[in-house]
Amino acid sequence: MKKISLPRLREMKGGGEPITMITAYSAWQARLVEEAGAEMILVGDSLGMVEKGFSGTLPVTMDVMVDACAAVCRGASAPFIVGDMPFLSYEVDRPQAIANAGRLVKEAAVDAVKLEGGRERAGTIEAIVGAGMAVVAHIGLTPQSATLLGGFRVQGKDLEGARRLLDDARAVEAAGACAVVLECVPAPLARLVTNRLSIPTIGIGAGAGCDGQVLVFHDILGLYGDFRPRFVKRYADGGRILREGLTAFVDDVRRGTFPDDDHAFGLDEAVLEELDRS
Ligand code: KIV
Repeated sequence: MKKISLPRLREMKGGGEPITMITAYSAWQARLVEEAGAEMILVGDSLGMVEKGFSGTLPVTMDVMVDACAAVCRGASAPFIVGDMPFLSYEVDRPQAIANAGRLVKEAAVDAVKLEGGRERAGTIEAIVGAGMAVVAHIGLTPQSATLLGGFRVQGKDLEGARRLLDDARAVEAAGACAVVLECVPAPLARLVTNRLSIPTIGIGAGAGCDGQVLVFHDILGLYGDFRPRFVKRYADGGRILREGLTAFVDDVRRGTFPDDDHAFGLDEAVLEELDRS
């Protein structure tokens, strides 16, 4: 697959071609996502939960994100790769936001960074874009500030909330964002926002009217926990398949059936006899 560029993503929006984005956090995951044909990879701060065992995304640090983004960029070459800016890596001030975005671009080689927030982040988006980097915005349910939003709930359900979301979408587009993730937004509102914007919208829990869809790698493959939000569709029971493989190995070792001769190295009889004599 040819490297996916921003003009290609805009062309896909223009032509009504659905864009697929899948998260990845390591080189092997990125390789699988690329082989599946996804146009975009998101190195999400969801890594804090699905890979690092935290109960949320807030503890994720810049160093962890740089390391994961670099691994993903080594594992896949064609998809457009977006690296998440973790909590408090862009909120304090704009110079720090530029410097941290720059780490993901310079040290890891991502194509764009993603940050959460609408109107209140427009200045930050403008500053990062002004420094020469592409920014994907993330509005609607923004997990890093879920406490302020009253928890993990659908956003923009009443007229005031829907207007706010539309204003946020317009603000991040005007600030120079190259795409926007819409998370947990009523499907008709996401469709309306998508029609009003010239940049691609990527939905998660936002219905079929977005330009693209994103899901978390572990959620698609059944690799993370038992809780499944309504918008997640599980396409494989990866946890069961992996567990069966691991259990079979443990059983083989316990029974003494691994390793067999096919999985071991032999030694010349003469060498063995000589050793026995000494
Ligand atoms: O961190 C993440 O994986 C995300 C997606 C859920 C959009 O931000």
